[in-house]
Amino acid sequence: MTSSAFDRAHAYYQSHDNDFHQQLIDFVKIPSVSTSEEHLSDMKSAADFLVNKLNSIGFQNAKAYDTPLHPIVYADHLKSEDKPTVLIYGHYDVQPPDPIDQWETPPFEPTVRGDYLYARGASDMKGQVWANISALESILKTGELSVNIKFMIEGEEEIGSPSLDPFLEAHKDLLACDLVLNTDGGMLAPDKPTIIYALRGLALFELRLYGPSADLHSGIFGGVVANPANVLSRLIAGMHDDQGRVTLPGFYDNVRDLSEQEREDLSRIGMDEAFFKRISGAPALSGEAGFTPVERIGARPTLDVNGFYAGYIQPGAKTIIPAYAMAKISTRLVPDQDPGAVHEAMKTYLESNVPDTVRWELDYMSGAPAYINRDQVQGMDLFIQALKATWQVEPLKKREGGSIPVATSMKNILGVDSIITGFGLPDDQIHSPNERLHLPSHKKGVEALTRFFLGF
Ligand code: BES
Ligand code: MN
Repeated sequence: MTSSAFDRAHAYYQSHDNDFHQQLIDFVKIPSVSTSEEHLSDMKSAADFLVNKLNSIGFQNAKAYDTPLHPIVYADHLKSEDKPTVLIYGHYDVQPPDPIDQWETPPFEPTVRGDYLYARGASDMKGQVWANISALESILKTGELSVNIKFMIEGEEEIGSPSLDPFLEAHKDLLACDLVLNTDGGMLAPDKPTIIYALRGLALFELRLYGPSADLHSGIFGGVVANPANVLSRLIAGMHDDQGRVTLPGFYDNVRDLSEQEREDLSRIGMDEAFFKRISGAPALSGEAGFTPVERIGARPTLDVNGFYAGYIQPGAKTIIPAYAMAKISTRLVPDQDPGAVHEAMKTYLESNVPDTVRWELDYMSGAPAYINRDQVQGMDLFIQALKATWQVEPLKKREGGSIPVATSMKNILGVDSIITGFGLPDDQIHSPNERLHLPSHKKGVEALTRFFLGF
């Protein structure tokens, strides 16, 4: 890397700070909630916003490709013959902002307070997409790019990327690359640049129980008719034993054990009990016996209720036996669990445990296997150098408990590994009210990305 190229690009970034910031705000303002039908046109606006931006900074072939659901944005800059091609992955969709009344300022009116920009999607992951674009714009405005870049920015990550695999299959040549850069992963703390070498997979379900044909008076019928809410609670409670282990038959069959070496490595990165208590705000921690928090997050599978509905949930009293109860349940999976096998395990559990007093339905909403790359990934050394030069410390290497199913898809369909990193923080409140982007970390991220892209 010639330091002057970096200095020029970085000076450009700093002197255009306000423009970059304002445009990020315009991007984050668009309520691109992928799960709600009412936001279909906002999804298109967010995709068009990116196409226009990438066009305007000198990318070619910028286009929003239609899919059965939300468009996928592609653009490239391929002027460096004999140099590798980096595919930058991103997603422009965001989680629903609910519960809206818990936001201090409205979710789609980005607001700066202190060091943070508050808005839905600011950290996960419009800010991260913006960091990549900012670094490349700064380079292109002040010199040459000596690496080939392709952008692929999808709009369905937060709903399990249903259109992505078919898109990858259909556009293998367009997307051919040497490595994927995925900044959807985050970092551990503002002074701890992070490489994520493993992500959990997942299998998502909706379980519905039907009892009486309508809500009933709980005095007239309580004691003779099973209550689907009671039954559902019991079924859910039975999905864990008193050691915090998941009881679905065969759930742990293929779970890959941690080596002693890796347990030791993980124990050193500072994700201890105090860390999780602090960032979660929970009164106490819980989880599978025999494993530390960092191990439980990264290397052990888990099962959680994400949503629970039954009966009368408005303020006040109503004495009924509800006709219906529902739970949304997610499992987080580790190497080498198969989401399909977990689906079977869930069915088997329900077949042998649901009483004949209710009728049940199970929907398998989506599933994706875990991803791991402990070994050599092309470009990783350069990326680590870029992080080091920016933060003046050795980057951490960790497993992430969240899921980015695209990493596995890229490996299986395009045959390339991903560098997974990011500049979002554990307390950015992603998926929660008051999501926020830590602006100092974001700017350092731009700096590191600039160094990385100039390093080829
Ligand atoms: N950016 C997150 C994944 C993530 C979470 C990385 C926490 C690092 C820390 C991503 O957008 C996400 O939330 N993914 C979903 C995937 C699912 C909907 C298929 C997840 O993990 O719940
Ligand atoms: Mn994300």
